[in-house]
Amino acid sequence: MKVYDAIISRRSIRRFHQKPVNLEVIKKCVNAARLAPSAANLQPLEYCIVTDKILCAHLFETLSWAAYIQPKWVPKEEERPTAYIVVLVRDTQNPYYERDVGFATENIVLTAEGEGLGSCILCNIERVKIQDICKIPMTHAVDSVIALGYKAETSMVEDLKDSVKYWRDERNILHVPKRRLDDIIHINMFS
Ligand SMILES: Cc1cc2nc3c(=O)[nH]c(=O)nc-3n(C[C@H](O)[C@H](O)[C@H](O)COP(=O)(O)O)c2cc1C
Repeated sequence: MKVYDAIISRRSIRRFHQKPVNLEVIKKCVNAARLAPSAANLQPLEYCIVTDKILCAHLFETLSWAAYIQPKWVPKEEERPTAYIVVLVRDTQNPYYERDVGFATENIVLTAEGEGLGSCILCNIERVKIQDICKIPMTHAVDSVIALGYKAETSMVEDLKDSVKYWRDERNILHVPKRRLDDIIHINMFS
């Protein structure tokens, strides 16, 4: 898959088939993160891959899903992610680590898309519990979690009109409003 095609087709996916994801494919996603741009090349990030069924079940309890969907919604048991990548920071004093996380996680979700996987970046998470579940030492901070699995939902972009809130239609298709290209480009001068 071409990079631009992966960027265009990738959407956050929150419902998954239960077919396991091959560990080598997940490692490939982390390898893409490893090679992402890094401020001063300090490379402050590490990754905990979680595929064990019991650990996945514990991790699932620490995550919050699709806050705009009301009433409160979570994936059903048979729709849960089958793997996770927990993004860790070993130096939160690094003033640019959050930018590094952005580049690294984008590389992960685009690689996942290229491999035919769905993904969702999650930051609305219970970090202390995750630290405990994955036995992460205090030298490393939990930044975010990326849910992975084979896609069991369709999500599509639509032009943003009056609200940024994504929504589900009667066929359970997720609609994600994005600002129109013409509304965000300024050529030569702002106005
Ligand atoms: C930093 C960040 C944190 C996010 N946290 C969550 C989260 O906790 N739960 C969730 O369901 N989605 C989360 N998302 C996914 C966003 O809701 C999603 O990217 C947004 O609605 C746009 O949809 P798209 O990814 O399909 O373009 C997060 C995305 C980002 C970039």
